[in-house]
Amino acid sequence: LFDDHLPSDLPEATLSDNARIVLAKRYLKKDEDGQPIEEPETMFWRVARTIAGADARYGASEAAVDELARQFYALMTTGVFEPNSPTLMNAGRPLGQLSACFVLPVDDALSNGRSGIYDTLKAMALVHQSGGGTGFSFSRLRPEGDNVRSTMGVASGPVSFMKLYDASTEVVKQGGTRRGANMGILRVDHPDIRNFIACKNDTSQVTNFNISVALTDEFMKAVKAGGSYDLLSPRNGSVVGQEDARQIFDLIVHGAWKTGEPGTFFIDRANEYNPVPSLGSYEATNPCGEQPLLAYDVCNLGSVNVGRFVKLDAPSDLPPEDRIDWDELRRVVHLATHFLDNVIDANRYPLAEIHNLAHTIRRIGLGIMGWADLLVRLGIPYSSHEGVEMGRRVMRFINEESRNASERLAETRGVFPAWGPSIWGPDATCARRADGSRVRPMRALRNCNLTTVAPTGTISIFAGCSGGIEPLFAVAFMRNQAGSLMPDVNPDFVRIAQEQGWYSEELMERIATEGHIHFDEVPEDIQRVFVTAHDIAPEWHVRMQAAFQEHVDSAISKTTNFPNEATEDDVRAIYELAFDLDCKGVTVYRDGSRPMQVLSTGKTS
Ligand code: CDP
Repeated sequence: LFDDHLPSDLPEATLSDNARIVLAKRYLKKDEDGQPIEEPETMFWRVARTIAGADARYGASEAAVDELARQFYALMTTGVFEPNSPTLMNAGRPLGQLSACFVLPVDDALSNGRSGIYDTLKAMALVHQSGGGTGFSFSRLRPEGDNVRSTMGVASGPVSFMKLYDASTEVVKQGGTRRGANMGILRVDHPDIRNFIACKNDTSQVTNFNISVALTDEFMKAVKAGGSYDLLSPRNGSVVGQEDARQIFDLIVHGAWKTGEPGTFFIDRANEYNPVPSLGSYEATNPCGEQPLLAYDVCNLGSVNVGRFVKLDAPSDLPPEDRIDWDELRRVVHLATHFLDNVIDANRYPLAEIHNLAHTIRRIGLGIMGWADLLVRLGIPYSSHEGVEMGRRVMRFINEESRNASERLAETRGVFPAWGPSIWGPDATCARRADGSRVRPMRALRNCNLTTVAPTGTISIFAGCSGGIEPLFAVAFMRNQAGSLMPDVNPDFVRIAQEQGWYSEELMERIATEGHIHFDEVPEDIQRVFVTAHDIAPEWHVRMQAAFQEHVDSAISKTTNFPNEATEDDVRAIYELAFDLDCKGVTVYRDGSRPMQVLSTGKTS
């Protein structure tokens, strides 16, 4: 384990007060009285040194490991790249569990010694304890009312067992730091689908789960054609009933409109790009949806803060793409890929099955954050073709460079063990589509999956940037600072206001109090560029997600925001658009549709 020695020549971390508070509360090592016994700098060095240390397995010298650790330290302390929270919390510490995302199988038995309902319940508790989030498909469970031969009783069905998992989650806090998060998935052709869709209509129920319906292509075709589709027995796949596809789709849309749930998971779309189909198919995702995973699969995430690659001193008449420092972005993507590959070796997985699969396929999830910051720094509105095109361009670059980095790692460390029969393998052995075509061109990669987009809920606070690929949530809000309310204004907005000469404290306070920027003092083009999540038409949310999805191996965590007055038809149109644009899932949120909103603009702050 890591010893706390912090080299005296390391620079301090650049962190906001808020970031230091969050770190002290939940991330820093504490003594028995709950007092932090490390500084943020010690934490980042602990992480950097532990993760760089994995290079020693591949023959790196002590000096080379130290040099790499310094580079990792610089990335994290300057907010250019952050790994997911469990890596920050646990690297170099006894728990040593470094990943945020897991999927566990749930078999149709109370216990079979491995993956029955109560076996997996226990595995879930272990994952939560270690700071990870879990996803489950309950689709293999027999429906409510079905026979239970051993007891001559009747089965209580997937939803009742999901409630059991929910209750257990409630009592096991994640690593003593955050409550466990779960994803519950049911295939649309499961006989209990109606019950599942409605199970969160009461927002006080199943609160530790996000739920999504796994929609098949066949189902979506039936929706378009106005036809019906088969319900299948989870026991043997036989047809046990039929449903009208539009009726079921309407129920999903109604739930999403009413409470934001269920989301949808386009399961066939996800499986088309499953890199290792010989090892199983995707049946669920992690809690926030960005990682479709196999049974016992795991992914460690990390995100590059892309807003930091805009050259702010470049002449503003240069085309936007010439104001991005692509060389520096390439360097950081290569380092970040190296970091995430090392996390797999440094990780202590909670179950042997997970350890084995992780080392066989070496899945990583390199994502981005600070996307909205990048756009405002380039002067491009989020809700514009130019913005969407820039998203496609930046993600294509990151995806490609991450693959290049993975190939470079493979040259010395070898390709991932399941490479041959994967979609990346050589022609003679690779997985192919039914029509015989390749899913991906051959690439000798170290990792079966490279890119994703996570929500970056906490790490974007450390990095001081906007979350994931979401638009700005607000330009300003009133923050309670030691008892008095102070306006907290987007620093780019302040900088531009000062540069252009329309800054005033009174205006900033008005913006923070009213929760919008539509005032005469704010030039029109600036109003367009600083557009926030609530002002953006839902269609642009989905178009941005789809542009990123084109160049992301796994999936994307993204919320499409609707105004409170949006109708069910509006929501339906977005669900269909997301499918048509090849997204792997979609999540919506209508303003005010849940009793409590974690973030809000305006006077309530
Ligand atoms: O910013 P941070 O690394 O804390 O996490 P995130 O990007 O907001 O979420 C990434 C993933 O971490 C989620 O998709 C979940 O799998 C997991 N997570 C969790 O298990 N519990 C939470 N409270 C938040 C996230």
